[in-house]
Amino acid sequence: MAGSTVRKARLQDAANIFELVNSLAGDGTLLRRNYAEICENVRDFHVAESEGGVFLGCGALHLYGPHLAEVRSIVMKPEAKGKGVGGMLLKALLKEAEDHGVQAVCLFTRIPDFFFKYGFRVTMDRAALPDKIYKDCQKCPRLHACDEVAMVRGPIPKVAVLGPSKIKQQELVPLQIAFTGTTH
Ligand SMILES: CC(C)(COP(=O)(O)OP(=O)(O)OC[C@H]1O[C@@H](n2cnc3c(N)ncnc32)[C@H](O)[C@@H]1OP(=O)(O)O)[C@@H](O)C(=O)NCCC(=O)NCCS
Repeated sequence: MAGSTVRKARLQDAANIFELVNSLAGDGTLLRRNYAEICENVRDFHVAESEGGVFLGCGALHLYGPHLAEVRSIVMKPEAKGKGVGGMLLKALLKEAEDHGVQAVCLFTRIPDFFFKYGFRVTMDRAALPDKIYKDCQKCPRLHACDEVAMVRGPIPKVAVLGPSKIKQQELVPLQIAFTGTTH
């Protein structure tokens, strides 16, 4: 879409994000997000907007740690789909992961073909992503009837920071050094 841009979200975008994400939560396309959660995590989001500044879509990158990030809540308004802007959003999220030194990015989706184009591959073993399962799946009503595929870009992480398999707190700093080569 000519002139469209992607930028980091601001708190003023939270209402648009809330409305668009939840418009696709009813059929399970996206996880439902409450308004407070979106405000609290608004710094995870990028938004796409038209040349005139009209909100077109959004997507979020959740950081679990230096070993793993997740693309969440990526969605375009219906009238803005198919014009290359969703791809721009996804690239901005992947660039953000790269800027944080995170090589492994995961997501669960019903439209793997879109994500194949950006280097994601399907992983049959969801247990390989315990952070994601602990964060969202355990409390999801579709836990035992999930129709999404798990996808990963980059290496499958060997550690987790949530749930029973989480690593000990004192191991987190060495973990960051190992993954990103930096302590800050
Ligand atoms: C998925 C979504 C964000 C893509 O945004 P978009 O602006 O329509 O995508 P783009 O126009 O940037 O398409 C980029 C490429 O992906 C392809 N693509 C777009 N949607 C696709 C889909 N559903 N399945 C397969 N390929 C798709 C396009 O054909 C294009 O390919 P090309 O570069 O070879 O031409 C958008 O369709 C959407 O909001 N879908 C509903 C919400 C959703 O399902 N989100 C994913 C949850 S995990």
